[in-house]
Amino acid sequence: MSQKIYKVPEDFAALAHLRNADYQRLYQESVRDPQGFWARMGRRIDWIQPYNKVKDTSFDERDFRIRWFYDGKLNVAANCLDRHLTKRGDKTAIIWEGDDPKLSERITYRELHERVCQCANALKSLGVKKGDRVTIYLPMIPEAAVAMLACARIGAIHSVVFGGFSADSLAGRIADCGSSVIITADEGIRGGKRIALKSNVDIALTAPGTDCVKHVLVVKRTGIRVPMYARDQWFDEVASTQSKDCPPETIDAEDPLFILYTSGSTGRPKGVLHTSGGYLVYASLTHELVFDVREDDVFWCTADVGWVTGHSYVVYGPLANGATTVMFEGVPNYPDAGRFWQSVDKHKVTIFYTAPTAIRALMREGEEPVKHWSRKSIRLLGSVGEPINPEAWEWYHRVVGDSRCPIVDTWWQTETGGILISPLPGAIDQKPGSATLPFFGVKPAIVDNEGQTLEGATEGNLILSDSWPGQMRTVFGDHARFIETYFKTFPGRYFTGDGAKRDEDGYYWITGRVDDVLNVAGHRLGTAEIESALVSHSKVAEAAAVGCPHDIKGTGIYVYVTLIAGEQPTEALRAELRDWVRKEIGPIATPDFIQWAPGLPKTRSGKIMRRILRKIAANEHDQLGDISTLADPAVVESLVRERMNRP
Ligand code: WT7
Repeated sequence: MSQKIYKVPEDFAALAHLRNADYQRLYQESVRDPQGFWARMGRRIDWIQPYNKVKDTSFDERDFRIRWFYDGKLNVAANCLDRHLTKRGDKTAIIWEGDDPKLSERITYRELHERVCQCANALKSLGVKKGDRVTIYLPMIPEAAVAMLACARIGAIHSVVFGGFSADSLAGRIADCGSSVIITADEGIRGGKRIALKSNVDIALTAPGTDCVKHVLVVKRTGIRVPMYARDQWFDEVASTQSKDCPPETIDAEDPLFILYTSGSTGRPKGVLHTSGGYLVYASLTHELVFDVREDDVFWCTADVGWVTGHSYVVYGPLANGATTVMFEGVPNYPDAGRFWQSVDKHKVTIFYTAPTAIRALMREGEEPVKHWSRKSIRLLGSVGEPINPEAWEWYHRVVGDSRCPIVDTWWQTETGGILISPLPGAIDQKPGSATLPFFGVKPAIVDNEGQTLEGATEGNLILSDSWPGQMRTVFGDHARFIETYFKTFPGRYFTGDGAKRDEDGYYWITGRVDDVLNVAGHRLGTAEIESALVSHSKVAEAAAVGCPHDIKGTGIYVYVTLIAGEQPTEALRAELRDWVRKEIGPIATPDFIQWAPGLPKTRSGKIMRRILRKIAANEHDQLGDISTLADPAVVESLVRERMNRP
C-alpha cells in the first residue's frame, strides 16, 4: 500500500460540486436516513408519475426484496433525450471518434432524439413490444447507443453482447434471454482489423435455442458484401422510412431496462438484470458527482458499450445528465500509442476515464507519445476495471495529467450498476491504488471467512450491508441463482467476490477477486467457462484454469491440460487449443500459457486445488502450503518440475 497522499488541488475544489465537508455531511445523511436522502436524489430525473415509495429492500433470504422508487413511472430514453430538447437541442450529445482517426461525427441531442425515435418505430414495426428482448451485437458506433435508447423508449429489454465475443458465446446469450430481434453490423473495425459480426450472427443462429430470433437488422459499417437471409434487413432501410416521432412508453420504475451477461465463479455467464428508475437515478448521480461534471464538459469513457461501464458511463449516465459523451470505436495503440491524447486534443476532452490495463500498455511506450499532444483540456482522470498498481497510478497522474489532475479510482461491478467506492474529486484526498471511500448510501464492510465483521484497519472479504438504487435485481430467468450467488456466502449481506483492505483512514484498497473469477485486462472471465471450452475439445480429458501475474493485463490466463490417453502434447496442439478457446469464447479468453498436466492436484473428494495451481503458475513453488490433503501429492511434484523447465 502506497502511503503517499495526493491532496485535492485547491483550484479544483473551489469549483467542484462537493467539497470534503459536503461529502461528510451527505454521506452521514445517506446512511442515517436513506429514505429521505434518496427521495430527494430521485427527483433529479423526470417522472411521468412521481414516486411516493422510495426504498423497500431486504437481503434476508426469507424476506428478500429489492425495490426502489417503486410506485413511480418514467421513461429512461425520454430522460436521456426529450427533456434536454428545449435547453440543449443543439448541444452535442455524442462525439463519435472512428477507428480511423480521420473519421468522426458529432450528433446533437435533437438529432439523437430523431434517430432513436426512428429506430424505436422500426422495432415496433417488427412487432417488438414492452418486455421483449433485443440483442445488440454492434461495434462502437452511434447506432449502438441509438439501439439501446430505442429499446428503452418502447420498454423492450436490451442485451448488448460485446463484439469481441464469439458466435458460440453470442448464441448462448441469445438463447438464454430469448431475443426476438438482433441488431448487428456487416463488420466491425478495431485497430484496423475487421470483425465478422454478421457472419458470427449467422453462425450463432444455427445453434439450438436461437429460433426465438425473428428478425436481424444489419447496420452497414464497412460495406462488405454479406449474405442476407429472409430474416435479415438493412437497419437503414427499415429505420430511415420511419416517423421521427415516437411517444415514449410509460414504464414502471421496477420494469427491466437491460440484461448484461457476466461471468461468475461457476457455470455459464449470468444475465444480470437492471431495472429502470433506480438504475437511472444512480448512474446519473454518480456520473455527475464522481466526475464532477459541468455543462461544458466533454466526457470520454473509453469502455465499449458491451460492458457495464459503457452502459452507465458512455450512454445512460452522461445522456441523462445532458452531457457530451465521446464514443470511441478504436483501440489505444492504433494507429500509434498517441491515439488517446491525439483524440483528447481533437475533441477538447475534459474528463478522461479508462482502464489500468490500457495505462500499463501505454506506459510501456514511454512518455513521448503522450507529451507529443497538449492534453491541456483535461481536468480530471478516472480509472476502472481492476486494481491500479501505484506505479501506473503515478504515471497516469504525472505524465498524462501533468501532475495537476485528480484521479478517481472507481470500484464497482456489473452487478452494482454504478460506482460504489471512489474519491469525489473535489472532496477526498487520493492515495495511489486506493478506491478510497464509499459513495452516498453505500455501506461496505469487511468480514472474515466466517462472516464476522472486522473493524478498523483490517483485511478480508468485501461485502455490502444495504441496498443502493443501482443494484441488480435478479439473474434473468433464475432468481434462485441470484440469491445463491450473492446472498448465501454471508447471509443477509451482498458478497462482492472481492477482497479488500481498509487502512487507518477508513480508505478501501481492493485486492482483487477471492472467487474463481478472473479479471483479465479488466474483462471478467470464469475459470469454469474456460475449462468447459477446453474439455469440449476431443483431445482434452481435463483442464484447470487459473490466473497468473501479467505485466499488462494484470492477470493472465494459465491453463493446465490433461490430454486423452494416447494423445501427444505437441506445440501444434498447444496452438490448436489456444485457437479453440478463442473460437469458443472470444479473443479475450485466449490462454496466455498452456501447461501439459499428466494429472491435476485434487482433494480426496475430487475437487481441484486451484490454490496450488495458482502458486505453480506464478512460479512460487516454495509457497505451496499444505498439500497433505491431496489424493496424490506426487502430481504436484511433476507439475512443478515441468513449470521449472520453462523460462
Ligand atoms: C470486478 C467487476 C466496474 C466496471 C468494470 C468491471 C474489479 C472493478 C475496480 C477498481 C479494483 C476493480 C473487481 C470487481 N474492479 N473496478 N477500481 N479497483 N478492482 O466490471 O466486469 O463486473 O468486474 O472488477 O474485481 O469485482 P465487471
